[in-house]
Amino acid sequence: MEKMTAAQARQVEAIGKHVRLEGWLRTRRDSKGGFSFLELNDGTCLGNVQVVAPAALPNYESEIKKLPVGASVRITGEVKQSPAKGQPTEIHADRVELVGTADPEKYPLQKKGHSFEFLRTIAHLRPRTNTFGAVMRVRNRISKSIHDFFQERGFLYVHAPIITASDCEGAGQMFKVTTLDLNKVPRAEGAVDYGQDFFHRPSFLTVSGQLEAEIFACSLGLVYTFGPTFRAENSNTPRHLAEFWMVEPEMAFYDLNDNMDLAEAFIKRLIKDALEHQAEDMQFFQERVDKEIIARLEGVLKHDFVRLSYTEAIEILLKSGQQWQFPVSWGTDLQSEHERYLSEQHFKKPVILFDYPKGIKSFYMRLNEDGKTVRAMDVLVPGVGEIIGGSQREERLDVLEARMKEMNLDPEAYWWYLDLRRYGTVPHAGFGLGLERTVQFITGMANIRDVIPCPRTPGSAEF
Ligand code: 4AD
Ligand code: MG
Repeated sequence: MEKMTAAQARQVEAIGKHVRLEGWLRTRRDSKGGFSFLELNDGTCLGNVQVVAPAALPNYESEIKKLPVGASVRITGEVKQSPAKGQPTEIHADRVELVGTADPEKYPLQKKGHSFEFLRTIAHLRPRTNTFGAVMRVRNRISKSIHDFFQERGFLYVHAPIITASDCEGAGQMFKVTTLDLNKVPRAEGAVDYGQDFFHRPSFLTVSGQLEAEIFACSLGLVYTFGPTFRAENSNTPRHLAEFWMVEPEMAFYDLNDNMDLAEAFIKRLIKDALEHQAEDMQFFQERVDKEIIARLEGVLKHDFVRLSYTEAIEILLKSGQQWQFPVSWGTDLQSEHERYLSEQHFKKPVILFDYPKGIKSFYMRLNEDGKTVRAMDVLVPGVGEIIGGSQREERLDVLEARMKEMNLDPEAYWWYLDLRRYGTVPHAGFGLGLERTVQFITGMANIRDVIPCPRTPGSAEF
């Protein structure tokens, strides 16, 4: 006897085999003809395995006919071709064993069709629903594709630290890491005495692995980081999390155009793999979540991304005749409404905006000849808005130091970052892709809280 997953047992290759299968009961139907039909799901695929349990089984009356939805069961039996539509196989059970019951009076997923809002309150049970199973499988596929894409191109996976003393984005929205007793904070000359803290200095959860990735790009060439990042901004939007995952490639001897080419190829690869390898899940999203999703993604694959300067984008937005909640003018940061207008309505495809005003971007971006803009790029996609932020980095020591001072950053604190420019400096570039926004983009899920196992948002961190 072979132990099989549902995904395997649903393949025609399994027909004729005697197998053992374990999972959770999704539905049970007792027919008058002396059978019960059990729909079993073990999470390995969207579709359930249909199990035919004959009345002749010794525990039929005592157990099988009472199996509640949500119970875990173990079955053995023979895989046969299914006469029913929508499933290639079914299993004729010779043994059905209840492993763990689920009280039908209390099990919250007894009925189908709960709202995503409700499911967030039972985030520990929602992976048992079709939607969250599909989200998790697509998320897994995207993660695999991320590694595949970079590994195939010779990139080195670098593990950036999670605890850091530097603020990469310079926005000051970091979570502090401390072992100080908050009831008895040590003070020296009125200020907190971080000398007594664990690291002898203020330290934080990282907002980005970029600065550390630059260290490795400036010695090993092509690298990427992929890990959790943290932002303590009080943003309650469908696109912000306090803890999210980011992929950050960093490439020596790349300029901004090389960076854009890589970002476009990368996004297309993630889409292609999801459509190809998660076809059943993607079909589900198309039917249940977003009727346009597959057509939209296929459209993205077919066309080149639009590449447009920030200045040109502002002109388009000013001429659009739209009423904006946040007014547009050269020098202001684009809001989600503007980003989505450009990619969803105006161009109807992904747009890469570049050369942003230096005043709204980070200190490390390379200054253009005009002295006003930096070699930044944001990739905007329909349905989500910004999915990637990146830039060519400032590799000129004097310009970088001047920029840091201009932005009230202490060059001393970044001595190691400046060393990369002191010794064998190279033009280099990189970007960060938000994993959860990518999962949203590919699945059509509207709320970012519904594409991560345990969402962390202001006021919310259950288990
Ligand atoms: O644009 P961001 O802030 O760029 C950086 O952090 C750079 N250091 C990246 C780099 O050049 N290596 O963030 C990059 C991406 C965004 O485009 C977005 O997809 C995602 O990270 N992101 C968030 N996702 C969920 N919740 C948040 N609060 C996010 N903030 C950024
Ligand atoms: Mg950004």
